[in-house]
Amino acid sequence: MKHINLVQTRSWSILKNHFKMIKNVHLRDLFLLDANRFEKFSICFENEMLVDFSKNRITENTLKYLLDLAEEMNVKKAIKSMFSGEKINETENRSVLHIALRNRRNSPIFVDNCNVMLEVNHVLKKMKDFSELVITGKWKGYTGKSISDVVNIGIGGSDLGPYMVTEALRPYKNHLNIHYVSNIDGTHLTEVLKKIYPETTIFLIASKTFTTEETIINANSAKTWFLKYSKDKSSLDKHFFALSANINNALDFGINIKNIFQFWNWVGGRFSLWSSVGLSIILSIGFNNFEKFLNGAHAMDNHFYTSEYKKNIPIILALISIWYTNFFGSETEAIFPYDQYMHRFSAYFQQSNMESNGKSIDKKGQKISYQTGPIIWGEPGTNGQHAFFQLMHQGTKLIPSDFIVPIISHNHIDNHHIKLICNFLAQTKALAFGTSEKSFLKEKTIFKKNTKHLNKIDKNFLFKQCIGNQPTNSILIRKITPYNLGVLIALYEHKIFVQGHLLNIFSFDQWGVELGKNLAKNIYKNFYNIENNKYFDSSTKGLINFYKSFYK
Ligand code: F6P
Repeated sequence: MKHINLVQTRSWSILKNHFKMIKNVHLRDLFLLDANRFEKFSICFENEMLVDFSKNRITENTLKYLLDLAEEMNVKKAIKSMFSGEKINETENRSVLHIALRNRRNSPIFVDNCNVMLEVNHVLKKMKDFSELVITGKWKGYTGKSISDVVNIGIGGSDLGPYMVTEALRPYKNHLNIHYVSNIDGTHLTEVLKKIYPETTIFLIASKTFTTEETIINANSAKTWFLKYSKDKSSLDKHFFALSANINNALDFGINIKNIFQFWNWVGGRFSLWSSVGLSIILSIGFNNFEKFLNGAHAMDNHFYTSEYKKNIPIILALISIWYTNFFGSETEAIFPYDQYMHRFSAYFQQSNMESNGKSIDKKGQKISYQTGPIIWGEPGTNGQHAFFQLMHQGTKLIPSDFIVPIISHNHIDNHHIKLICNFLAQTKALAFGTSEKSFLKEKTIFKKNTKHLNKIDKNFLFKQCIGNQPTNSILIRKITPYNLGVLIALYEHKIFVQGHLLNIFSFDQWGVELGKNLAKNIYKNFYNIENNKYFDSSTKGLINFYKSFYK
């Protein structure tokens, strides 16, 4: 596909001029001027989800110009390239096919002349059969007992994804206890080991490459711990499993070939929860629910593939994001799920978006002159309201944010849910409109009057003003079901894809992460030999010496 620099397009020049006219317009005025703004700037997905993007600093013209940009940048063609298995991850010469993992139509998708759906379905069936054995108690550990605990050992996409989903779908979970160990800090593994028994635990070593240091160290320590009890290497077959694209390394680790759940190089690590990396999700909620989860993602894939530009939710959300980062100069984007079970959702998309679009070289190998991926962050509502929302209401930064809100709660107690909803409504309203002009004037009048009675002065009225004009998207979802969570994750994945395409960067590699990994290995190698070692700068040397002084 032709690589186009977005700032050299005609639509970009139009947007630049348009921005000059709109940059100071207030959301308050946009809503006053158009009573139908909500209808014009919101889209329903099936009967399950409503995306309201009316509280953005855009007009009908802005949206038109942004959509023109998408068209000029051939977004639709790019989508086709991804869905048809083209090797769009050029720097690693790989296809990008997480959509194949949830291709419920089962239509053939080819990579190097092989229909990947055959392998996908084979592994899905293997996961189904195995999970049923474990959930029904038929899979026995080395002492003949059924399994009660599952430990997923992985990091990055091999941890954040399944952990986030398992938490978000807690209401669907069965009796199995699912644990996640990711950090190389021994504390993480130690604390999990305290909660489990070797006879009734299985370990899933989740690593696409099966070389990631954190995962391999944790897996080895778990194996040593386990063997201390079982004292028999053959017992590993009942307790250790690999979820990986690197079969040889998994075998070398000592995993039985039958216990390897394969996935493939065309699955990006941060998009791997749909692959065998999702085994812990299946063990938690059962295969039927996992299928519903895949169905939801597939439904969003269809929407993304078939919907015209102006009705295409991921495309519109990506364009709005580019609008803020590149014209308004916003640095971050927040995601606030108003659902406690979704407490890892922002962290998951932090990796997904920042690892994908945190790049500064374009597809032609040239240094980029515009802004690329935003910083993603967020916490569940309403907790965030009592932490950082103050800065959003009265600080100096423009922070576009998404509010994700289930209409039906899994836990209806008293009036909690309606209160939660009202808080979401209040926040998005306050962020958009700030303190109303009426109340501002009222306070001002009181202030003027009170200046005659100095002791009654409410001179704080100026400090109480909230300017508003902070943009938000509201995503209302009927309920966080497996299907709807699938829809939502796929929506954000595709938004990231469109952002990356528009920014003309390779979204599916992560070379920056490699630097730190290699340095850590080199430092470890040289740790006890730092004097006269030119490899070390004075700061790193000083830090190492201080560290060592505690072990003398
Ligand atoms: O952080 C870099 C990264 O390669 C991620 O993309 C990936 O999810 C993570 O490391 C773990 O990699 P692996 O699954 O190969 O252990």
